[in-house]
Amino acid sequence: MQWTLAARAEKMNPSVIREILKVTEKPGIISFAGGLPSPKTFPISAFADACAKVLREDGQAALQYAASEGYGPLREMVAASLPWQVDPAQVLITTGSQQGLDLLAKILIDKGSPILVETPTYLGALQAFTPMEPQVISVASDDDGIDVMDLAMKATLRQAQGERKTARFLYVLPNFQNPTGRTMSEARRAALSAKTAELGLPIIEDNPYGDLWFDAPPPLPLSARNPDGCLYLGSFSKVLAPGLRLGFLVAPKALYPKLLQAKQAADLHSPGFNQRMIAEVMKDGFLDRHVPTIRALYKSQRDAMLAALKREMPEGVSWNTPDGGMFLWARLPAGMRAVELLPKAVEKNVAFVPGAAFYADNADPRTLRLSFVTASVDQINTGVAALAAAIRESQPAAGVRIAETAGAK
Ligand SMILES: Cc1ncc(COP(=O)(O)O)c(C=O)c1O
Repeated sequence: MQWTLAARAEKMNPSVIREILKVTEKPGIISFAGGLPSPKTFPISAFADACAKVLREDGQAALQYAASEGYGPLREMVAASLPWQVDPAQVLITTGSQQGLDLLAKILIDKGSPILVETPTYLGALQAFTPMEPQVISVASDDDGIDVMDLAMKATLRQAQGERKTARFLYVLPNFQNPTGRTMSEARRAALSAKTAELGLPIIEDNPYGDLWFDAPPPLPLSARNPDGCLYLGSFSKVLAPGLRLGFLVAPKALYPKLLQAKQAADLHSPGFNQRMIAEVMKDGFLDRHVPTIRALYKSQRDAMLAALKREMPEGVSWNTPDGGMFLWARLPAGMRAVELLPKAVEKNVAFVPGAAFYADNADPRTLRLSFVTASVDQINTGVAALAAAIRESQPAAGVRIAETAGAK
């Protein structure tokens, strides 16, 4: 039998991270590679109670086919939890926010459509967008988030050519970004919001980590500033548990019907049983008690990793200090490549994700993503020491470093 693949399937790639995770599944390895929340944070007994109650009191409806929009009380809870005026009718419950990315790719991207992303950006979004064959344009970004001048240049350049090629949207993660852990400053949000409104450029705002702040909540979402110009994605994965595969999107009313049709084609609806369990667990303000425990745990893990990096890393290695979320972004000394370091680190029983995977183009080969949430403090200490040893052993000779520095702009 000769199966012929669609051109779109040819564009699909295995997730680099999943491939790396396979390499790192050797026993005894300390992994800073995964993007998984700490399983210690899963509220198992609350789910056990909710599971029994849902089956006892609402079992038939919970196990039946259901509305594609999602379970009404959960949509209401989502709308009420957001810091701007949201009508529950704008909320679509999705099978993880990853499905939200897939649905919006289907309704917003044609072959060749320009779309704008941060540098670097979430790999899973690139995976969802790529099969629709967009022209992905990376916008320069720094520690405060997206560079608004560069955005304006890249979004409007195409108009100047006389073609109708304004970018379809900007995809952005303002809070504790995956992969860098950085947060967009208030000033940058205000400037971005004003500029995108002026350009008529829609924003896709992805916010799975926003509740996981350490010392102070992040500034208001972009969606709160311009609700009609933004499509917002949220997730229950990082505040409750990813295994239930539930997230949501908040869409401007004009877009909602098309997203709903795409949702129907994808899976009819997200599991009604899981939606009821989450609604049952969340009622009575459970998240207000639960999420602070996640924040405290992750903050202590971040602090342990920062202290270990400071203690162990050789000169020339740099890293940032994320104010929340799960990831820290590091950069190797000149002349080194994270992809080449990885096998040497794995030999020493420690793993990370090379940053190059997260760039749509022009990857910085020296970058790497370190998750600080799944390893214990002891493992963080041992793992960072092992990583530092692998870096020291792999550092190029001084002559090579000088050559690269001289050639660098
Ligand atoms: C930025 C970002 N968006 C979306 C997702 C998908 O999350 P989920 O489908 O579990 O809601 C992730 C998962 O790690 C993520 O990091």
